[in-house]
Amino acid sequence: MHASLKSIGAYVPSNKLSNKDLEKMVDTSDEWIYQRTGIKDRYIANEDESTSDLAYEASKVAIQRSGLKIDEIDAIICATITPDFFCMPSTACVVADKLGISHITAFDISAACSGFVYALSIAKAFIESGLKKNVLIIGAEKMSSIVDYKDRTTCILFGDGAGAAVIGGSLKKEESIVDIHTSSDGSYQNFLITPGGGSKNPCSQKMLDDGLHYLKMKGNETFKIAVNTLTKDVKNILEKNELSSDDIDFFIPHQANFRIIDAVSKKLNFPNEKVVLTVEKYGNTSAASIPMAINDWYEKGRLKSGDLMLLDTFGGGLTWGSALVYFNQK
Ligand code: ACO
Repeated sequence: MHASLKSIGAYVPSNKLSNKDLEKMVDTSDEWIYQRTGIKDRYIANEDESTSDLAYEASKVAIQRSGLKIDEIDAIICATITPDFFCMPSTACVVADKLGISHITAFDISAACSGFVYALSIAKAFIESGLKKNVLIIGAEKMSSIVDYKDRTTCILFGDGAGAAVIGGSLKKEESIVDIHTSSDGSYQNFLITPGGGSKNPCSQKMLDDGLHYLKMKGNETFKIAVNTLTKDVKNILEKNELSSDDIDFFIPHQANFRIIDAVSKKLNFPNEKVVLTVEKYGNTSAASIPMAINDWYEKGRLKSGDLMLLDTFGGGLTWGSALVYFNQK
């Protein structure tokens, strides 16, 4: 039995935050943001909307498109760095409750922007070992809850959103999740970090006054490592599976920065028409970015059942990964 991506769904919150809006909040310009990142807009959740609400909306679409009944889902994995609750319960448990499912495996994973690809690898292992039959995986983030809207180096980059997919089984290799590679290097832990609120810097008035609960990023340093690491990682997974860029229908990278995507695509000889881009309209939605991009391409009518997707991702940890996945939504 192969694991297979049977459906996709996404949810975008309703409040658009444009570069022009950000010009009024920090010392920046539409021109700087667009030239350096390729981002024009991002969407921000309402104050009373939490990550599980975004995840729930995306999950409903994915489950409906899978054709499965809700009680056929036997595990939920939610990848997020902005869970509803800091320690517990997991966002996956909250989503399960909202969906009306209980007595199934439900847990969160934390791998920052790489979360969806990491969750995909766990779902693949669950299905192919026979432990689970249908796993709902979610990438969902309310990044606006950890972004400092006074810090121009980070607040221009991130947006909120959610994507979800149902992973089931198939006997056909041409419907399968062919291969996944995930990796990390903790020696770069301070490149992308929310320093406060954990056991190292527990919650205190001083921690809040110092703004340590906000996301901090060494953007320029991360950029350089991202381009080199991703290029190598994608080359490796293609070589290992005896494939070339010609065999891939769509290259769907993590949507952090147009310049990273462009550099990696050029080094790997992917023509523009094969490269899926959503960074301009959603910004960086961390773990939600890849499933939102897959969903976008599907809803545009570009992605068809049987297409071979190459996913690649890079984020805090540092973590990264790539995956070769046939789109198998009927
Ligand atoms: N508006 C105007 N000027 C700005 C802004 C802004 N919003 N932000 C920074 N600047 C200034 C800086 O202060 C600096 O000025 P200086 O030269 O006078 O010191 C100058 O612009 C250049 O700054 P850099 O940081 O070198 O700009 P860079 O070209 O590297 O772009 C960016 C910054 C967009 C953050 C880029 O480095 C990037 O995308 N990095 C990678 C991010 C990433 O991939 N993260 C991983 C995933 S995220 C996750 O896991 C949650």
